Amino acid sequence: MNKITNIKPVLKIQNLKKSFGNNHVLNGFNMNLFEAENLVLMGKSGSGKSVMIKCVVGLMQPDTGTIEIMGKDISKLNQKEFNNLRSEIGFLFQGSALYDSMTVRENLEFPLRKFPEYASKSEKLVSEALENVGLSSAIDLMPEELSGGMKRRIALARAIILRPKIIIYDEPTTGLDPITSKEIIQLMKGIQQQFKTSSLIITHDVDCARVISNRMILLIDGINYMEGTFNDLSASKDKKVQEFFK
Ligand SMILES: Nc1ncnc2c1ncn2[C@@H]1O[C@H](COP(=O)(O)OP(=O)(O)OP(=O)(O)O)[C@@H](O)[C@H]1O
Ligand SMILES: [Mg+2]
Repeated sequence: MNKITNIKPVLKIQNLKKSFGNNHVLNGFNMNLFEAENLVLMGKSGSGKSVMIKCVVGLMQPDTGTIEIMGKDISKLNQKEFNNLRSEIGFLFQGSALYDSMTVRENLEFPLRKFPEYASKSEKLVSEALENVGLSSAIDLMPEELSGGMKRRIALARAIILRPKIIIYDEPTTGLDPITSKEIIQLMKGIQQQFKTSSLIITHDVDCARVISNRMILLIDGINYMEGTFNDLSASKDKKVQEFFK
């Protein structure tokens, strides 16, 4: 057994099921994300990774199953309680997803709007988040003025601005060149070390998984098909598992 399994999970998913008509996407998916670990989730395109994440952040309702964030079953919370808990999760959306009509500063201020208590600290939080990703100079730029790598950094700054306990990265390196990918991965590692966040990293990128993961889960056929370290999984004799490491 891995020693971190003794620690309480910050995110616990049990028996998650989600279908769209006859398309049974999640068929009883289980996952624990433990404190201060980097957990990599790999699964083929269309296997339900984003659907699972949408269920966690409340953008989609599961058919059945439970999701606990910091020990709280999210289906039992009212909207305000859920929003508060949701603020413990930073989310790097697939493809950065910055608002094109807003400056970098406005993009970063956006997640703060829901929380009046942050209004007076907004300027400080924005500048600290930009410092953390090495892009203080970009504060007044528009997204169209940023390179792909810069956009990803700004999206990362936005994900960490509320100092979340959990960060979910959906394909953080997709579409970036290998050098920029490495920079983003190093930045993610740095953030994890500095803030002791628990990270769930969804990726197809084997190099990213090798460098960043403490543990991995493979989502195959709608379930957590296999779990283990990168070395465990990459040495597996299972044909479906081997496909990921070719
Ligand atoms: N709102 C929706 N309505 C109907 N079907 C959906 C919806 N959202 C997702 N699906 C279906 O669920 C399946 C899983 O989609 P999902 O986006 O989770 O895949 P993914 O694993 O994130 O893939 P990728 O690696 O390409 O991002 C797909 O077959 C998709 O068509
Ligand atoms: Mg996806």
